[in-house]
Amino acid sequence: MIRETIVATVSATGEAHLAPLGLIQDGDGWIIAPFHPSKTIANLRAVPFATANYTDDVRIFAGCLTGRSTWPLIAANFFPVPRLATALSHAELEVLRIEEHGERPRFHCRVQSLVKHRAFEGFNRAKAAVIELAILASRLPMLPREKVEAEIAYLKIAIDKTAGAEELEAMGWLMEKIEGFYRD
Ligand SMILES: Cc1cc2nc3c(=O)[nH]c(=O)nc-3n(C[C@H](O)[C@H](O)[C@H](O)COP(=O)(O)O)c2cc1C
Repeated sequence: MIRETIVATVSATGEAHLAPLGLIQDGDGWIIAPFHPSKTIANLRAVPFATANYTDDVRIFAGCLTGRSTWPLIAANFFPVPRLATALSHAELEVLRIEEHGERPRFHCRVQSLVKHRAFEGFNRAKAAVIELAILASRLPMLPREKVEAEIAYLKIAIDKTAGAEELEAMGWLMEKIEGFYRD
């Protein structure tokens, strides 16, 4: 099972970094598996802790992929990595072991604590569609253009029917990135 989260890490000099990453369930823990090259990989090697932020604000997923990565953070009292200020909940993760791999090392993490902040207020199809669109936008060089265009046409049905202002803004950022990729 994979859960889509916003992973926060810090560099050796304490600079925070956010990345949308799918965490792979591993018993009671999670595996963080970024592809090279990745700032998250460098940070986890320097400071082996992360927060996994559970949020339904899809602008953060779309924003991180489109150069908008300064979302408000809150420092923890006894943990080296901050969390997203608007997270519904977050897990504090400690890297226990690194499974080395040339393309995609796997950081096996244990959950030190899981902290709840806000209520989850139900599913929204546009939010799910924006997450799919964000994944598509992060893989453009690997996908045939016809497949990308067919998927966008399908995802737009749910977005047009059920989006609020945040989902429309997130979709706008992603469409700008996708159109720019094919124009350049
Ligand atoms: C929902 C979602 C899940 C993603 N999951 C992964 C993942 O598991 N591994 C990965 O390398 N990239 C994943 N990506 C793409 C990364 O967010 C993107 O490449 C990012 O820049 C990671 O690199 P960084 O650590 O340098 O920030 C995902 C993107 C989205 C929108």
